[in-house]
Amino acid sequence: MSRPASESAGTEVLDGLPGADSPPDTKLAEAPGRFAPGDLVLLVDDKNRQQVLRLAEGEVFHTHAGGLSHDDVLGATEGVMIRSSRGSRYRALRPGLAEFVLNMRRGAQVIYPKDLGPILMLADIAPGQRVLESGVGSGALSMALLRAGAHVLGYEIRPDFARRAVNNVRAFLGPEALGRYEVVLADCYEGFTADGTAGVRPGGLDRVLLDLPEPWRVVEHARQALRPGGILLAYTPSVIQVSHLRKSLSSATWGMATTCEVLQRAWHVVGDAVRPDHRMVGHTGFLTHARHLAG
Ligand SMILES: C[S@@+](CC[C@H](N)C(=O)[O-])C[C@H]1O[C@@H](n2cnc3c(N)ncnc32)[C@H](O)[C@@H]1O
Repeated sequence: MSRPASESAGTEVLDGLPGADSPPDTKLAEAPGRFAPGDLVLLVDDKNRQQVLRLAEGEVFHTHAGGLSHDDVLGATEGVMIRSSRGSRYRALRPGLAEFVLNMRRGAQVIYPKDLGPILMLADIAPGQRVLESGVGSGALSMALLRAGAHVLGYEIRPDFARRAVNNVRAFLGPEALGRYEVVLADCYEGFTADGTAGVRPGGLDRVLLDLPEPWRVVEHARQALRPGGILLAYTPSVIQVSHLRKSLSSATWGMATTCEVLQRAWHVVGDAVRPDHRMVGHTGFLTHARHLAG
C-alpha cells in the first residue's frame, strides 16, 4: 500500500507526474536583493568553514568564536562581512545548491555535488522533462533535477526520508518547486504504479534516475515507462552493482550503455606554492547510463 508523502493539492498530475502542464517557475530566475527575514544565508569564516542558516530578526547564532547576530546580516547585500561577539570575521552569502547540499539536514547519504553536476549532463536533464527518481533519500538529487526544470516523481520506501527530501526541497527551492515534485511512499522494485499517483503510462517518462541498492530490479519497469530515446541513469557505490546493472541493460532494448566515475582533485594555490591538494575524495559512486531504444 502506498500513499503520497508530499502535498500535491492544486497540482494537476498528468501521467503520474506532478504539474506537468504548469508554467515555468520564474521566481528561481529572479536576482536576489538584500537579505530579509526568512532568507537562507551561508556564513563563511576565515578558514573557509561554512554554516547555512535561516535568518530571523533578533536571533543569535552561537559559534565557538562567540555569537553572530542575524540582525547584522538583515538588510545587507551578499558578501557583507560581519563579526562575532568575540571578533571573528564571517562573510555572508546566499548558499548555492552545492553548499546547501553539504550543509543541509540529511537522513540518507546524499549524492555529492561532484556527481550531481555530471548526472544532469549524462542524463541530459532539461526543463519540462518527466523524471522518475528513486529513492529520494535526503533530496539532494531531487533538488538538482528540479532546479534544472524537470518534473519529478519520487519513489521512496522510508516515510522519514520522504519527509526530509520534501522539506529540503521546500527549504532551498521554495514552496513553488513542490508544484513539480511529488514523492510517493512505494517500493520501486514493484513497478511504477503506486496509489496516489495517476500511474505512469507506458512511454510516459523521459528519464529514470536511480540511487538504490538493486537498480537492475527497476530496469524492466523503466523499459516499459520510458519513451524511445529516454535515459536511465543509476548511481551505485560498488562495482558489483555496476556489473549486475550492465547485464540487465545488455538486451536490444537498451543502447549506448556507459559507466564512469567522476574524480575531482582540488589544488592548493598560495602564492607560488601551487600543487594538487594532499587529500581528495577517493571514491563516491559509479554513474551508469543507457538509452531506451524503440522496441
Ligand atoms: C542513498 S539514498 C538516496 C539519496 C538521494 N539520491 C540524495 O541525493 O539525497 C537511497 C534511498 O533509496 C531508498 N530505497 C531503497 N530501496 C528502495 C526501493 N526499493 N524503492 C524506493 N526507495 C528505495 C532508501 O530508503 C533511501 O532513502
